[in-house]
Amino acid sequence: TASTIPSPDSGDQPEVRKGLAGVVADVTAISKVDPETNSLLYRGYPVQDLAATQPFEAVAWLLWHGDLPTADELAGLRAVEREHRALTDDVRAAIDLLPTSAHPMDELRTAVSVIGAREVAGLSALEAAADPDETVARSARLFGALPAVVAYGQRRRRGLELVEPRDDLDFSANFLWMTFGTEPAPVVVDAFNRSMILYAEHSFNASTFTARVVTSTLSDVHSAVVAAIGALKGPLHGGANEAVMDTFAEIGSADAVPGWLDDALASKRKIMGFGHRVYKRGDSRVPTMKAALDTLVEHYGRADLAALYDALEAEFVERKGIYPNLDYPSGPAYHLMDFDTPTFTPLFVAARVTGWTAHVAEQQAANALIRPLSRYVGPERREVPTAAES
Ligand code: ACO
Repeated sequence: TASTIPSPDSGDQPEVRKGLAGVVADVTAISKVDPETNSLLYRGYPVQDLAATQPFEAVAWLLWHGDLPTADELAGLRAVEREHRALTDDVRAAIDLLPTSAHPMDELRTAVSVIGAREVAGLSALEAAADPDETVARSARLFGALPAVVAYGQRRRRGLELVEPRDDLDFSANFLWMTFGTEPAPVVVDAFNRSMILYAEHSFNASTFTARVVTSTLSDVHSAVVAAIGALKGPLHGGANEAVMDTFAEIGSADAVPGWLDDALASKRKIMGFGHRVYKRGDSRVPTMKAALDTLVEHYGRADLAALYDALEAEFVERKGIYPNLDYPSGPAYHLMDFDTPTFTPLFVAARVTGWTAHVAEQQAANALIRPLSRYVGPERREVPTAAES
């Protein structure tokens, strides 16, 4: 017999908020995203001012502790970060088990899993959950360890040897050193440092919310980060910076933009790097990253790339009124630095791990299990057929 499927709107149940759009799930003191004023504050500081003046390590401290570090605090964090820079044998062995065709996000997710298992070895699940202070301590070690994983992954895929870290370089310069094995130009270090700061934190986005959901069950910080990496991999979230470069490669040059866009829009394609769930009048981070991209275009002499960038932006904004998000300028910036396209989202992880873990600590400090309701729209109760009927 046919079963009746209740309509999702039936009954006097609460409204379903698809995608949790517009739902305020909790309070946070970490960042303020304000689409009205088009601004983003980390612990009260405008992100563009932090990007212009601070090393990424200081912003990591700010997100975890609530204030910018003193000179001694910054030195302390830098010491921990340096201590964990080298790729450890267990992580290297785990990565080497994966095919070189594995996506770098899968490589990174695996690496964090190995690091997490080592961190809490011998502890029960309850002991592993830890308190916010211990979470921040573990997070600083993880923050130090991630660049080697990203750098080794790209080198492995290119058939190159591992490059050991250099203690005389700060986080960003050492990251580039371990990836490319050459000392990076200051303009490149500066653009990279800015990108890290801009990517570090953005309130309750999908991956951060994922990390908070995992934390809310009293799981540990590495489990939360593994889950967040999974959420960030998708092209509607972090994966968009990769997709921007794929789009550029498909279009080829600035003069091909109008024709390409005609076809793309006719087939209802989403143009990656444009649009945002919260910002509807432009992403507050874009002008800062675009300025950094401009310095790279000049440094590498790639006016052609800038022309394609400008042409697609102008044409798409004019036709759809949808503005670029941070992934639009960061994709080409990472491309110019010579990162392979699939490495872009792992770079986002290396930055966002600071925001994720700040949220893990904040969730731990005032936890409530995150467990929403659903409205059932499947078949009404029915009898399992007897053997004779089936
Ligand atoms: N290209 C084409 N059309 C778009 C785009 C886009 N990039 N973004 C939104 N639209 C259109 C939708 O098709 C939809 O049109 P319709 O009402 O005619 O169906 C309308 O604008 C509303 O879009 P939604 O997807 O419903 O809005 P939502 O708030 O859910 O979308 C999202 C936000 C997912 C980011 C979307 O803009 C998108 O898919 N963009 C491309 C992926 C991307 O760049 N993601 C990066 C996000 S930022 C970050 O992670 C740093």
